[in-house]
Amino acid sequence: MNQLVMPMHKLARIVAFLSLPLLASCDEPASPPPLEGAAIGGPFELVNPAGETVRWNDFEGQYRMVYFGYAWCPDVCPFDLNRMMRGYAQFAESEPDLAAQVQPIFITVDPKRDTPDKVGEYVANFGDNLIGLTGTPEQVDQAAMNFSVYYSRGPDDSTYGYLVDHSRAGYLMGRSGEPIALLPVDESPEGVAAELEKWVH
Ligand code: NI
Repeated sequence: MNQLVMPMHKLARIVAFLSLPLLASCDEPASPPPLEGAAIGGPFELVNPAGETVRWNDFEGQYRMVYFGYAWCPDVCPFDLNRMMRGYAQFAESEPDLAAQVQPIFITVDPKRDTPDKVGEYVANFGDNLIGLTGTPEQVDQAAMNFSVYYSRGPDDSTYGYLVDHSRAGYLMGRSGEPIALLPVDESPEGVAAELEKWVH
């Protein structure tokens, strides 16, 4: 009888020993989320490409990646969104079940030109999972304010019509809408994927 039990114990010890370094690196982060307790996020009511009202609380239970920009942005938004969505795709490759619980969201700061249709066309450039949101100027103002996002319409320009100066931040938000961390959308897809690996469980 004991012949079977003994090797099992030995095996268990070996497994426990081998698991130690792995457990140490995969453990819950020792430090709290960098944005924990920050007054970022909160309610909004916006409009999706189908023209339907979408509220912040509709994403309850899901992690959210949030980026503010605008479809006519010539050089910053498209690169940031590309890195954000490539990072998300990398994370989805290694953690498909967890990635399914993360919703990437683009919110325009140019509601005048970014109609629901336009936003829908724009986000389709970055993959199937990115939701694009617009709204009335008041709705967009409210959402931007809640996320501490600054934006300001520039003077009319012969090439672009006008530019919109805006802050450049990708937010990772938790299942209850709480802020977790900034996503390095200005750096690399790998950096974005690493943040998702770190905080999405
Ligand atoms: Ni931009």
